[in-house]
Amino acid sequence: MIRFLLDGQRHEMEVGAQETALHVIRERLGRRGTKEGCGEGDCGACTVLLGEAEGDHVAWRAVNACIMLAPMLDGKALATVESLGTPEHLSPVQAEMVARHGSQCGFCTPGFVMSLEGRARCGLGTVGRDVADVLSGNLCRCTGYGPILESAQACAPTPRDDSESLAALLSLAPIGKGANWHAPRSSDELAALLLEQPEARIVAGATDVGLWVTKQMRDLGHVIFLGDVADLRGIEEKAEGVTLGAGVSYSAGWDALARLHPDLGELVRRIAGTPVRNAGTIGGNIANGSPIGDMPPALIALGAQLTLRRGDERRTIPLEDFFITYGKQDRREGEFVESIFIPRPASDAVIQITKLSKRFDSDISAVCGAIHLRLADGIIQSARIAFGGMAGTPKRALATEAALTGQVWAESSIEAAIPALALDYQPLSDVRGSSAYRLTVAGNLLRRLWLAQQGEAVSVLPHLNKEATHG
Ligand SMILES: Cc1cc2nc3c(=O)[nH]c(=O)nc-3n(C[C@H](O)[C@H](O)[C@H](O)COP(=O)(O)OP(=O)(O)OC[C@H]3O[C@@H](n4cnc5c(N)ncnc54)[C@H](O)[C@@H]3O)c2cc1C
Ligand code: FES
Ligand code: FES
Repeated sequence: MIRFLLDGQRHEMEVGAQETALHVIRERLGRRGTKEGCGEGDCGACTVLLGEAEGDHVAWRAVNACIMLAPMLDGKALATVESLGTPEHLSPVQAEMVARHGSQCGFCTPGFVMSLEGRARCGLGTVGRDVADVLSGNLCRCTGYGPILESAQACAPTPRDDSESLAALLSLAPIGKGANWHAPRSSDELAALLLEQPEARIVAGATDVGLWVTKQMRDLGHVIFLGDVADLRGIEEKAEGVTLGAGVSYSAGWDALARLHPDLGELVRRIAGTPVRNAGTIGGNIANGSPIGDMPPALIALGAQLTLRRGDERRTIPLEDFFITYGKQDRREGEFVESIFIPRPASDAVIQITKLSKRFDSDISAVCGAIHLRLADGIIQSARIAFGGMAGTPKRALATEAALTGQVWAESSIEAAIPALALDYQPLSDVRGSSAYRLTVAGNLLRRLWLAQQGEAVSVLPHLNKEATHG
């Protein structure tokens, strides 16, 4: 059973763990303005807003209803495109889209409108962000992005009175369980549940798991949702580094990561689009163990540590040790990822984190490389290098690191170390890049770091600016 608000009205219904929020919205609530395009979080046609009470206000965030599972609506306020204006009285965002011809066939329009409404409400992942980044999770096939971006520019975020929604949310007790799911509210409760049901499937943002349901028709079995575990959503910034709870989403962690190093902030900007960044967690990216997950290489190069918890027992391991082999991580029965600690890099550390993909936004990496060097007196004192997309797991380049360490900081040392990449990695060829491309580009990323340190601007996209690559 879940309980949620839709336009101020309470709704209660039984839902299964595998039912999508989109199914609830279209088929059970009859709100067919929310569209299904791709069913995998790529197109944004299904974008809706979710609101949660946060202190003295309602925190809104745009999410993809197609891959969100229905129990994740429990205790939340839901807004769909029908929640905004009517044809006679359009909302400000809708009015701008009409006035600036931001819609042709109209299929994508509700999704764009909801993303812009999220921005108008100062929603998660929108404040201080470029509108193109806010809209990076919405695709349009016919209008063209010019009029849509103009409409976006014309809609400045405005303060709104959410006091009624806040009061209603505060008095709305979530139910927290159904026939095949639980949604604990503390990590103690989560730890106890996982001891009882170690085979249960953990779901955080469902941006990986949602696709197992919609695209692979997999049976998830009993599901434990992490989204309401408040103590897994903490962000602690200290002089020695940043600790992120496993339930921190990309959007929530973005600023803290950018303060650790600007390349980390840029990496978050390149992960998916806003609705996925608003739901997907950094803990989920790690726990999923994908060889092309973007955060692990960067965090490994920075020396991150992972804390896992089982019952009351905790263990902390270097992040790279978590990835055993393709599809196998060092997670024991009943254990969950609790937090990630990322040490603050030294102010003189030489760091470069680069994601290479065919599209700028919302694309999977062909290669993601992170290089972290310490230099003193013209000598490379230490090197931590990790790549994604080069092996069955995110992996450190131990041979390359050894080839660089102790060498003079010079182009000749970089060139001498590059052949060692072939000892570290024997990458696969797939649609994103051939094995030879991947090895070549990994070497080129080392050369790029050297050139950039000599003051040369070396863009990954030399001939394209960001606007030109949208869509
Ligand atoms: C359109 C789209 C674009 C994407 N783009 C990118 C991209 O650019 N780069 C990228 O790296 N990824 C991308 N992803 C993948 C995905 O968004 C990330 O991997 C995300 O971080 C997963 O987090 P989640 O919270 O959604 O995990 P979920 O889907 O909830 O879970 C993923 C896995 O982790 C496990 N898990 C989650 N949390 C824990 C925990 N605390 N303890 C133990 N196990 C746990 C789950 O059981 C499951 O096996 C994209 C996905 C979509 C749909
Ligand atoms: S239908 Fe395409 S993102 Fe949901
Ligand atoms: S208006 Fe047709 S897809 Fe955007």
